Amino acid sequence: MDDAHILTAANWIRQAQQVAVLTGAGASKESGVPTFRDALEGLWAQYDPAQLATPEAFARDPKLVWDWYAWRRDKVSQAQPNPGHYALAELERIHSNVIVITQNVDDLHERAGSRDVIHLHGRLAGNKCSAECQGSPTLIDLAALEDEGKPPACPHCGAPLRPDVVWFGEALPQAALQRAYHISQHCDLMVVIGTSGLVTPAATLPIIAKQSNARLIEINPDDSMLTPHAHLKFSTPSGIALPRIIEALQI
Ligand code: OAD
Repeated sequence: MDDAHILTAANWIRQAQQVAVLTGAGASKESGVPTFRDALEGLWAQYDPAQLATPEAFARDPKLVWDWYAWRRDKVSQAQPNPGHYALAELERIHSNVIVITQNVDDLHERAGSRDVIHLHGRLAGNKCSAECQGSPTLIDLAALEDEGKPPACPHCGAPLRPDVVWFGEALPQAALQRAYHISQHCDLMVVIGTSGLVTPAATLPIIAKQSNARLIEINPDDSMLTPHAHLKFSTPSGIALPRIIEALQI
């Protein structure tokens, strides 16, 4: 990693009034949480999203889908935030205007100490009524339920509960998305970490930021769809690049 690039990134952060951070699955990779599109270990290389991550799949086989998410939830609960997550939480302490926009459904940013995190694709830890019987989303606390079915039934209407995540073909949570658009339009710097940039609308946020004159930094060991748009690229895992940048900020 080039020291000059580290210093440039630190300077851009210092100069920015508003810093936006967009994270994808790569940000959690060093915590042992698999990404989606890694050719060998990626979730979508091993499992068929059409069978597991669509409303149709859930309607066809709710137990299969419920169990798959229970497995993912288990994996995340055993994982710990990595140095990249901690560096982002530290960034929030150093700079007064930092917002993390994540596509990740894990809670590793929060567990590392980030306080302002927008979850574009929902949260693995949450559950909701699949019929949204009390409005969208009808969140249900599993711990307060006696029903241990797989999936348990909604205590209001009896429909099966489902994880509070966005499935293929579904709209993103509107409030989260609107806030993410707003920040992308108004930030001076966006740091894009560990995303292939293949899934919209999340992948449009860096483009919106750049069109609004923000600088773009990308941290990703591989090239992504967003690499051609980046003003500065670190081809390094985020758990290595981010602590170095934060260290340079503190000098
Ligand atoms: P992908 O699996 O598509 O991409 C992960 C990216 O992380 C790749 O570009 C890797 O090169 C990069 N990467 C791997 N290790 C890294 C590391 N240590 N540090 C930094 N980068 C690293 O994951 P996403 O782009 O997040 O949607 O996928 C977007 C969405 O597609 C997900 O949120 C999910 C999925 O279908 C939903 O579940 C709705």
